[in-house]
Amino acid sequence: MAFVSMAASMPRVVFIASLVAVLAMAAGPAAAHGGRVIHLRFYMHDITGGPGQTAVQVVKGPGPAHPVMPGSHFGDTTVIDDALTEGASATSRLLGRAQGTYTLASLREPVLSVSMTVALTGGAYNGSTIAVVGRDDVSASVRELAVVGGTGAFRRATGHVLWRTARMESRDHMVLELDVYATVPSGSPPPPRADAVRKGGLNLD
Ligand SMILES: *[C@@H]1O[C@H](CO)[C@@H](O)[C@H](O)[C@H]1NC(C)=O
Repeated sequence: MAFVSMAASMPRVVFIASLVAVLAMAAGPAAAHGGRVIHLRFYMHDITGGPGQTAVQVVKGPGPAHPVMPGSHFGDTTVIDDALTEGASATSRLLGRAQGTYTLASLREPVLSVSMTVALTGGAYNGSTIAVVGRDDVSASVRELAVVGGTGAFRRATGHVLWRTARMESRDHMVLELDVYATVPSGSPPPPRADAVRKGGLNLD
């Protein structure tokens, strides 16, 4: 196992320190105001043209041209139904869809206002949704958006999403890495069975 071989090659003190850190992280979720933290990671495929297009511009801002986003205009709005996959490759397992919109909402900066529902259709949280809104400054390496609610296992969720551009498959196909940290109240529907979580490959904590 990777963990064991890593431990063998690591000085003992470092190993113990990292073990303590892991245990502290494991204890964290239960301590979050009586709630439970669910950490999900998946990759979002935003395909704005060509075969397999999942993102369509529905509003073309009347101008002027945006100063830092060539070809774009203030108010440009795109509706998305982007695939969410377990790995960065578009052919890896489908876990759900990100459905919503983003609008170029800054006159001067490359900033999108995002509003979307993450609808999980595979893995341990199949059938649940997560509502995500926020400011996506595409020039920043990591962006933080808000988890503002959800349904099913994510009923009354709060939290945040760390949002990174993982890679560009092509000019029209951007792959984003999303880390969702959602706290759900302890009264929410129970967590899925542990073996379902492992099979789902979603719950990292
Ligand atoms: C997700 O749930 C739906 C509805 O219960 C079911 O039809 C589907 O097979 C499930 N998908 C997976 C991948 O488990």
